[in-house]
Amino acid sequence: MGLISELESLAGELESALGQAVSLPEVEELRIAFMGRKGRLAELMASLREAPAEDRPAIGQKANAVKLAISGMLEDRIAVLRAQSAGREDFFDPSLPGRRPPAGSLHPITLVLNEICSIFEGLGYEVVSGPEAETDFHNFAALNFPANHPARDMQDTLYIADEVLLRTHTSPMQVRSMLERKKPPLAVIAPGKVYRRDSDITHSPMFHQVEGLLVGKDVSLADLRGTLAYLVRKLFGAEARVRFRPSFFPFTEPSAEVDVTCIICRGAGETAGEPCRVCKGSGWLEILGSGMVDPNVFKAVGFDEDCAGFAFGMGVERIAMLKYGIGDLRLFFENDMRLLAQF
Ligand code: DAH
Repeated sequence: MGLISELESLAGELESALGQAVSLPEVEELRIAFMGRKGRLAELMASLREAPAEDRPAIGQKANAVKLAISGMLEDRIAVLRAQSAGREDFFDPSLPGRRPPAGSLHPITLVLNEICSIFEGLGYEVVSGPEAETDFHNFAALNFPANHPARDMQDTLYIADEVLLRTHTSPMQVRSMLERKKPPLAVIAPGKVYRRDSDITHSPMFHQVEGLLVGKDVSLADLRGTLAYLVRKLFGAEARVRFRPSFFPFTEPSAEVDVTCIICRGAGETAGEPCRVCKGSGWLEILGSGMVDPNVFKAVGFDEDCAGFAFGMGVERIAMLKYGIGDLRLFFENDMRLLAQF
């Protein structure tokens, strides 16, 4: 019964070898030498075939017991060495799986910006971008805000120099796009950061807008309405509707503020018999400003007076809050991983 005694001595051999092993790599070497695919145990098992048939069950049982015993010894030794070396700088355990660097994800604002841009790209609009430090001309004058007009106060502007400011809206991209193209037609969508002297629960000094501009011939308010209706269905679902309310912006005439069906109460104005808290019971939520481009804007950029166009601008944080049910604007700027990791 040579095999049985060889199996028995295998356990003894490993025991004394483990006593000498002072590092985890050494233990790993012993594990491979004894239990590996071409190790000592495997070698003995291979010769089981040559043993007489009546001895095989006993040898097999012994082999299983030895296998259990030596894997237990290896584990015990690893546990001891780990305990000893915990906290040691030069500690290296080759048997531990590697640490994966955490995978990042896109910020919810970026997700919404990308979504809006790709909706308009699908309609043939070109995505454009421009400077955040703007001239008074692009941000105000060319957009029909006369000097000293109170409309300039409407936007609490952060000035860098006399005629240079941080853009208060993305509308200067209307001016830049038309100046660059020199003549119609054009259809552009301009996402970006804007700045205002404002900071409270619902206002941040920096936020994001997306501007849209389409100029051609025979462009009508109906085209604007159809385009925005398409946008809100894409953004908020097939049931979403738009409502236009007359408004005023210096650079559009006529101007409208656009509401979308409240996505919390779905336009009902109430949830569970209570007035909806998000739309305050109206069933509508304001999401953007829009209108037909004012002839004075065409004049400022040298476009023919017989062209026509529409423009719109929306706040991205507001849309992201509605889309993802986020109740506090500040969450977008705090970069708390508990929020960001959910996107
Ligand atoms: N620029 C405006 C704002 O920041 C939003 C806006 C209104 C943009 C009407 C437009 C527009 O293009 O036509 O409040």
